[in-house]
Amino acid sequence: MENAPDENVDENPEELYRAPMMTADADPWAVALEDIDLATGRVFQAQKHHEFFERLRQENPVHYHDKNPDIGPYWSLTKYEDIMAVDSDFQRFSSEPSIALFDELLGEQRAPMFIAMDPPKHDIQRGTVSPAVSPLRLKDLDQLIRSRTVEVLDEVPTGTPFNWVETVSIELTTRMLATLFDFPFEERRKLTFWSDVITTPPILMGITIEDRLNHLAECLQTFTGLFKERQFEGNESQDFISLLANNPATAKLDGVELLGNLMLLIVGGNDTTRNSMSAGVLFMHENPSEFQKIKDNESLIPSAVSEIIRYQTPLSYMRRTAKEDVEIRGQQIKKGDKIAMWYASGNRDESFFPDADKFIIDRPNVRRHMAFGFGIHRCMGNRVAEAQLRIVWEEILKRFDRLEVVCEPERVEHSFVHGIKDLQVIAHPKG
Ligand code: HEM
Repeated sequence: MENAPDENVDENPEELYRAPMMTADADPWAVALEDIDLATGRVFQAQKHHEFFERLRQENPVHYHDKNPDIGPYWSLTKYEDIMAVDSDFQRFSSEPSIALFDELLGEQRAPMFIAMDPPKHDIQRGTVSPAVSPLRLKDLDQLIRSRTVEVLDEVPTGTPFNWVETVSIELTTRMLATLFDFPFEERRKLTFWSDVITTPPILMGITIEDRLNHLAECLQTFTGLFKERQFEGNESQDFISLLANNPATAKLDGVELLGNLMLLIVGGNDTTRNSMSAGVLFMHENPSEFQKIKDNESLIPSAVSEIIRYQTPLSYMRRTAKEDVEIRGQQIKKGDKIAMWYASGNRDESFFPDADKFIIDRPNVRRHMAFGFGIHRCMGNRVAEAQLRIVWEEILKRFDRLEVVCEPERVEHSFVHGIKDLQVIAHPKG
């Protein structure tokens, strides 16, 4: 969502990618508690984070780590109720200066964006763009989402493996994003590319820091052009750009702040839904009896969508910064300390979700997952995401008997964005 790489850089571009202190092969149950550092993308890539979190929930639910040279000391909250309490308390826990553990990326100042602002500025900017994803607007968009889903699913190959992420998840989320921005449809893949540039350390994309800055400059230039075009009296369009351009609160946003909010809206609506769309296919493949439940009863799809989002938790954490000294479970958190609220852990907390490590599409409290956060920053696009996922599963059931995952998925090396890069699938059409 915000610039949130897992590995930081130093001055020398050759050393862009500093190895994390804790390696992915560390034994979650044997490593010293104080050495556990979850801000390590490789641990998520290797899917070992669940075990580390389980240990922390049991032995040290409010955990302190101070050995990561790139981000400095930080606290980890791992229990559902602690995360919920902090996320709901913006008076004592600030979203400024950043919602990622890293304070800056590549030495760049962070672009201001409303996810990393406190009231009143946050509320004003959020209020400006939220009509683009209001329930009323979504009603209008429902048919469009369905027709695009149909187009994409009708084109997938059958009987032969293809990358579901590229062919379906990215294509559908990019089309949706293009709609929300009213971005030139033919150029929509630029949005995905910029989203990747924003979230991925350049070395992992095979580009230099200079390339990255050039791409961001192109992104800003393109959007500034659209912003100016759409800034006129009487423009009542509900796309993100028109809303920003015509509200007195945001009409004068400068380059960096405009870029910051665009970054938020591009990434917020992109990686998260994309990864839920891919992960759901994997989970249904791994749990055929759960897939059978939605085949037998389509009205369970909304509940299945929530369970997919809980089980994947596409954004592993959000950071807050303590505005005053606070005690949580006997731990003394000082004013100014960084705190990671690990949604990825809260969503697997046994004391809240019985059989939390199991994928159960009709679990009773499924809608109470924390993947969208809580409080004033609760995900603005949650309804759009749920609508997209619901419709994709409705349309999958109409066409396919089974989506078979034929090899291990390739996962993203990131502790903030929890995602899948490559998911090879064979689609078996209905007989
Ligand atoms: C499954 C999909 C999604 C997940 C898991 C997700 C998750 C999140 C989370 C965890 C937050 C921060 C909550 C907090 O700090 O308490 C957030 C905020 C946000 N999300 Fe999402 N999101 C998803 C889809 C979307 C979509 C589709 C959009 C836009 C179209 C979007 C736009 C935003 C925005 C603008 C914010 C900032 C809200 C604020 O600061 O007030 N998200 N999201």
